[in-house]
Amino acid sequence: MTLARAGLREIYVREERRFVDAHPASRALAERAAHSLLQGVPMNWMVKWAGPFPVFVESAEGAHFTCVDGHEYVDFCMGDTGAMSGHSPRATVDAVVAQMQRGITSMLPSEDAVWLGEELQRRFGLQYWQFALTATDANRFSIRIAREITGRPKILVFNYCYHGSVDETFATLRDGEVVAREGNIGPPVDPSVTTRVVEFNDAAALEAALAHRDVACVLAEPAMTNVGIVHPDADFHAAMRELTRRYGTLLILDETHTICTGPGGYTRAHGLEPDFFTLGKPIGGGIPAAVYGFTESVGRQIVAHTQLSHCDTGGIGGTLAGNALSLAAMRATLDRVLTVQAYERMIPLATRFTDGARDAIEATGIGWSIAQLGCRAEYLFAPPPRNGAQAAAAADFELDRLMHLYALNRGILMTPFHNMALMCPQTSEDDVDRHTAAFKEALGELVSGWAGPPCNQLGGPAVL
Ligand SMILES: Cc1ncc(COP(=O)(O)O)c(C=O)c1O
Repeated sequence: MTLARAGLREIYVREERRFVDAHPASRALAERAAHSLLQGVPMNWMVKWAGPFPVFVESAEGAHFTCVDGHEYVDFCMGDTGAMSGHSPRATVDAVVAQMQRGITSMLPSEDAVWLGEELQRRFGLQYWQFALTATDANRFSIRIAREITGRPKILVFNYCYHGSVDETFATLRDGEVVAREGNIGPPVDPSVTTRVVEFNDAAALEAALAHRDVACVLAEPAMTNVGIVHPDADFHAAMRELTRRYGTLLILDETHTICTGPGGYTRAHGLEPDFFTLGKPIGGGIPAAVYGFTESVGRQIVAHTQLSHCDTGGIGGTLAGNALSLAAMRATLDRVLTVQAYERMIPLATRFTDGARDAIEATGIGWSIAQLGCRAEYLFAPPPRNGAQAAAAADFELDRLMHLYALNRGILMTPFHNMALMCPQTSEDDVDRHTAAFKEALGELVSGWAGPPCNQLGGPAVL
């Protein structure tokens, strides 16, 4: 069975025409934006959405949003997990509105901070908690602390990980050597100075890297989610924990995406014992907020390494971190939105999504795969990968753009740059089935002939 590249391009051109015809208002805004926003977008990566310009959003609620041209979409992107709570969840909005009338930020704690410390401890098991505004910062602060208390210079990450815009993590393996990841903008130093990189699920390589005894911490997602979903082998977490302990390396688990696994994240679902736990994005229901927690032992060592007179200038900060608004948003979201009952609704929907796509893949024999992790599902243009390199090798920019544009034209938003779908508490079976129908339609068109290597020339910001 083969797909013809030429056929794929024809379908893309047709879909692009359909998209442009249906979005005159978005197009007008994109043209206007091009005069004041670099490449017409408020954030650099928004230029990468499939189609000649992005869809401009009018409003969003629950699992749906409406664009400025009046079309309604099922949102499976959910702000790439930032809106996993559903758009504008009622309880969070009410708490935020109430807090806004009582002061937004003061550099002093509110009672919500204490409630959150207790709830985070109960949910995730770690003793002490601190707040940040982004998951990137939660990771950066945890790395700094790990370096400080171990006195070691390096960190270790897995090949093709993503942990936000943390300098040390934009490293990859080329022929076994650590090099800057493609696209790394202005790295402060050669990443091989700061970072060791190994493949996920490779305990032997992990041991060899840790044996240098210069690694302060391993920063890992418990299952990789940013290069497709890569599940850990059955014994990988036990091996990683044993090796990190043996070589005096601290373990940071970044649960920013894997919080999709369940209310206590992957850590609680699988009984893991990290030294640090980081989480951002959905925890404030979409309001900027993040947390990082650590063990009693780490907490004691931080205090021992901190001088009162300098504790505000140590490289861990954020004037607005822990602000009253973010705290109120997190409290409401944890207490009333991302509840056990919400996960009980969301996870079966992800199973329905996975089953629908898998049936279509198997019926066409196209050789793709789909993986599920809690309320998240993602299809890949290859069989299931065991590590980041295998997953990255399955990337196909051209095909990826086509699948996204195809879905968009049928009222479905998938997470950009890969093919992830996230269920929120308001997602319905009808929403899921709408994706299944569009996915089947796409495969039906594509499987009539497929050949040739991936090509990276399609699309781009034509209007801008
Ligand atoms: C696993 C993981 N950690 C951290 C981040 C960074 O989040 P933010 O961009 O909100 O700082 C991301 C972003 O996608 C992520 O996927």
